Amino acid sequence: MNKISDHNLKLKDKKVLLRVDLNVPIKDGTITETSRIEKIIPTIKLLIEKEAKIIILSHIGRPKGKVIREMSLEPISKKLASLLNKEILFNNKLINENTISEVNKITNGSIMMLENIRFNEGEELNDKEFAKKISNLGDLYVNDAFSVSHRSHASVEGITKYIPSYYGLQITEEINALKKITSEIKKPVTLIIGGSKISTKIKIINNLIKKFNNIIIVGGMANTMLKHTGSIIGKSICENDCESLIKEILENSNKYNCKITCPLDVVVSKNLEGSGKNKDIKEINKDDIILDIGPKTIASIKKIINDTNTVLWNGPAGYFENSNFQNGTKQILEIIEQKTKNDNIFSVAGGGETVAAINKFNKLNSFTFVSTAGGAFLEYLEGKDLPGIRALN
Ligand code: 3PG
Repeated sequence: MNKISDHNLKLKDKKVLLRVDLNVPIKDGTITETSRIEKIIPTIKLLIEKEAKIIILSHIGRPKGKVIREMSLEPISKKLASLLNKEILFNNKLINENTISEVNKITNGSIMMLENIRFNEGEELNDKEFAKKISNLGDLYVNDAFSVSHRSHASVEGITKYIPSYYGLQITEEINALKKITSEIKKPVTLIIGGSKISTKIKIINNLIKKFNNIIIVGGMANTMLKHTGSIIGKSICENDCESLIKEILENSNKYNCKITCPLDVVVSKNLEGSGKNKDIKEINKDDIILDIGPKTIASIKKIINDTNTVLWNGPAGYFENSNFQNGTKQILEIIEQKTKNDNIFSVAGGGETVAAINKFNKLNSFTFVSTAGGAFLEYLEGKDLPGIRALN
């Protein structure tokens, strides 16, 4: 494994192409969440220390090979410069024959950020010529963008064929944390999985069910499970035609001795804006909407987590955006936080909505590791080989 943390790797005078993922949410020109920017700072500082010439490559949004001004990386380069307290030269042109002479002007320990790599047509097509063209801009390549490593794009996968390629610090940390919940697990291990659709998470469940002791299903996914086992779920969201998926989960849970837990009680309302009422599963009316898990379910989750050494959480327990239905999600966070602090268990969380909940309740430091990746995190948990990582190997 080639890593930039290797002490023998000398980078003085070398042009390092650093692929990061600065795909952060921007609302009305303001960056609303900065954790992806903050997480790459240690890698940049290491490259500065090693006196490399740093060329940052990233994407934001999905411009599909077109220049879309609202998807410029310029505001992000400013934010990064202020966090680093260091000037970043922003190169706002598409990659062309002049780019090489522009990057050749960078001095040791300084940084140039290139404009959104997805403005170039060849990026998402993983075009060979384009990959070669970017590789010619540097002496070596570093992937520090775990969250885009599930994409076979030129600056993620293609480029590694033409230039010595290395793991950055952040991607290494991410892979190490994910290994501890997929291959190097300290048992008992529990998965808490939520979100709205069982069909989008079935591959994760079936991959992890073989190794995990407990799978706790919450959120909209749990409604589909409850309905299948004969409960009335009223007007709650649920998926149809999932019989075979649920049968598969239940058969595998028997086969691999993994206990599946579904809600015992819930919080219901007549509409999304209404107030909540606790109900046992058997008491749900035809016009109720399930919007959170109830206190008995929370107590059973606490009991399971108390006997756990490793926990993975993906997907909120309810409609946490409304404070009437946030308790389940908040309590899960607190249970994991306490157990991580008191017993030093290994706890990992990830996925877009999950990170949004963690940020809302200010719990970023409550887990051993929080993944900033969305799709890549889920694909890794499904057991897929990510092209960006395979290419580095
Ligand atoms: C992400 O936000 O998950 C990554 O930046 C990948 O973005 P994409 O789904 O547009 O490829």
